[in-house]
Amino acid sequence: MSTKKEIRIALIGTGLMGRTHSNGYNRIANFFPELEYTPVLKVACSRNAEKAKAFAEQWGYESFETDWKKVIARDDVDAIDICTANDTHAEIAIAAAAAGKMILCEKPLARTLAEAQTMVDAVEKAGVKNTVWYNYRRVPAVTLAKQIVDSGKLGKIFHYRANFLQDWTINPDVPQGGTATWRLDVDAAGSGVTGDLLAHCIDTAMWINGGIKDVSAVTETFIKERVHAESGKVQKVGIDDAAIFHCHFENGSLGLFESTRYARGHKALYTFEINGEHASIRWDLHDLNRLEYFDHSDDSIVRGWRSILVTDGDQPYMKRWWIPGTSIGYEHSFIHQAADFFESLQTGKDCSPTFKDALETQKVCEAVLDSANSKSWKDTGVEWAGS
Ligand SMILES: NC(=O)c1ccc[n+]([C@@H]2O[C@H](COP(=O)([O-])OP(=O)(O)OC[C@H]3O[C@@H](n4cnc5c(N)ncnc54)[C@H](O)[C@@H]3O)[C@@H](O)[C@H]2O)c1
Repeated sequence: MSTKKEIRIALIGTGLMGRTHSNGYNRIANFFPELEYTPVLKVACSRNAEKAKAFAEQWGYESFETDWKKVIARDDVDAIDICTANDTHAEIAIAAAAAGKMILCEKPLARTLAEAQTMVDAVEKAGVKNTVWYNYRRVPAVTLAKQIVDSGKLGKIFHYRANFLQDWTINPDVPQGGTATWRLDVDAAGSGVTGDLLAHCIDTAMWINGGIKDVSAVTETFIKERVHAESGKVQKVGIDDAAIFHCHFENGSLGLFESTRYARGHKALYTFEINGEHASIRWDLHDLNRLEYFDHSDDSIVRGWRSILVTDGDQPYMKRWWIPGTSIGYEHSFIHQAADFFESLQTGKDCSPTFKDALETQKVCEAVLDSANSKSWKDTGVEWAGS
C-alpha cells in the first residue's frame, strides 16, 4: 500500500489545458517516484455532462461534474486546477480560496490587473498554496537559459528580444466568442495576443532578466468585426490581434517583444534571444530541446554559435527522462510544473510563479494595452522579487 500523502485534484475545464494538466498528474508517479505527495484525480468538471463524463473516463478521474461551485463545495477535494477561459479564473479562484483549497490556475491570471489583484488578495487572505501555469519556464532548455544568465556568463545584459507568432485568425469568417473561439471575444479573454501570448513572453523574460520598468506599445485589430458564435450577430472585435512593445528592464537592458495571430506560416513560434557583454543565447519553441549559445571568449578560430541539445542528465529535469540525445516535448513542461508543485508541498517553498508573481506579468500586460491606447510610454509599477 502507498504511504504517499494524497492531494485530491479537481480539474475545472477539460479542453486543451485540461488535457495537458491531466497528463502531467498521470506521469508524476512514474517519473518523480520519490515525491512524498501524489495526485489523486478526483473530479473533472466541464459544462457539458457527456463531455465531462467522457473526459473523466479517458484521463482517469473518479467522477465528473458540470457545476464548478459543487466541485469547490466537495470535502473530498484538496486542490482546484483552473483550466477554463480567462473570464472565469477570478470567480473560481476566489471561491476556491475561501473554501481553503490549494489553487493551480492557468495563465493569464485574469482578464485585467484589477481582477488579478482580487485573486492575489483572496489567496493571501486564505493562506492557500497557489501557482500559475506559465509552463515555458519548465522547458529544460529555458530553465538552462535562466541558469546560464544567473551564472553571470553573459555579463551585463543589453538586449532581450521575444516573439510569439501565430496565424490562425487571418480568415475574417472565424467567429468570436463561444466554446471554440472565446479567445477572440474581449469579454471572455480580456485581451487578445497580449494576455494570451505576450504574457508567456513577459513571464519568461522577467524570470530570466528581471523586472520590466516601462513600456511603449502599439496594438492593432486587423479585423474589426466578426460574427459572435453564440448570438450569431456581427459585433465589433475588442481584442488586440497583434501587439508590439519595447521596454526598459530594471537591469538597464532594452526589451523588444512582438506577438500576432497574423504571421502567415507560423503556428506557435515562441522565440527569445538575449545578448550580453560576453555571450548570447537564443531559444525556439519549434526546436525546444535546443539552446543556442555564443561565447565571445571562445578561441577566435572556432568561435561561433553552439547548438546545445539539452538532453543530458546534468541539465535541468533531464535526469528524469530517457538517455542523453533523446528528446522530450511540450507536454513535459506541464509534467515538470505539476511535479514542482508537489515538491513545493514537501519543502514548504512557493511553487513559482505564484499568483503574486503572475500579478507582475499582468501589470506589464496592462501597461502594454494602456500605452497602445494612449500612444505614450507607461510605467509598469512592477516590483519583481525574482521568482
Ligand atoms: N499555459 C499555456 O501554455 C496555455 C495554453 C493554452 C491555454 N492556456 C490557458 O488555459 C485556459 C484554458 O485554455 P484552453 O486552451 O484549455 O481552452 P479550451 O477552450 O480548450 O478549454 C476550456 C474549457 O473550459 C470549460 N469551461 C469554460 N467555462 C466553464 C465553466 N463555467 N465551468 C466549467 N467548465 C468551463 C470549457 O467547456 C472547456 O472544456 C485559458 O486561461 C488559457 O489562456 C494556457
